[in-house]
Amino acid sequence: MFDRIAPVYDVMNRVMTAGLDLRWRRITAQSVVRPGDRVLDACCGTGDLAIAASKSGGTVTGLDFAPQMLQRARRKLPSATWVEGDMLALPFEAGSFEVATVGFGVRNVADLEGGLTELRRVLVANGRLGVLEITQPSGFLAPFYRVWFDQVVPQLGKLLKGGAAYTYLPASVRRFPGPEELAELLRATGFTDVEYRTFAGGIVALHTGRAV
Ligand SMILES: C[S@@+](CC[C@H](N)C(=O)[O-])C[C@H]1O[C@@H](n2cnc3c(N)ncnc32)[C@H](O)[C@@H]1O
Repeated sequence: MFDRIAPVYDVMNRVMTAGLDLRWRRITAQSVVRPGDRVLDACCGTGDLAIAASKSGGTVTGLDFAPQMLQRARRKLPSATWVEGDMLALPFEAGSFEVATVGFGVRNVADLEGGLTELRRVLVANGRLGVLEITQPSGFLAPFYRVWFDQVVPQLGKLLKGGAAYTYLPASVRRFPGPEELAELLRATGFTDVEYRTFAGGIVALHTGRAV
């Protein structure tokens, strides 16, 4: 599915968020990456969060299991290391990175707890994690949000070649835990100092934490 989406993925991100996604990725990178850090960007897709991490001074490895996504990422930032692999079985030794980031990725991973545990394993002690993800707002935006994700986005996707797969988006968001639950899960999988902030009226959340 992600290979099919790859050609339209960046355009859809810009349209769905009115360009705000680039700002959210920049804030994510600036929250956790310090110059010289070895950074793993898991589920890197077409590489935009990895690029933000690189701009914050990190030495970036991007990992994704969709070759078409990786090909685009490689084209955008040839100097990074791009690895085809599964976040549930990361091909790295324990303690290989100071920072791990995931942008709009953990929602799609078949075993969320297993994925977070893998991220913890490849981080050094005190290593930092940044998880940017769509979440479910509970306030006045909730009805607008349901119309946008359940109806508008899938129709927008159908207008673009390969974009029919965007019908997957509402279901993947609906079954994903809310921000409090995700924070709890991060604590349970080996992270401390877990905090989160939300963007766009609670539609997107950035969770940060430190590996115990
Ligand atoms: C919605 S895209 C996010 C891409 C990028 N991080 C961003 O910020 O735009 C989700 C990506 O996660 C990847 N993915 C999902 N499950 C994965 C897994 N278990 N291992 C590696 N990549 C995975 C998909 O191939 C896809 O490229």
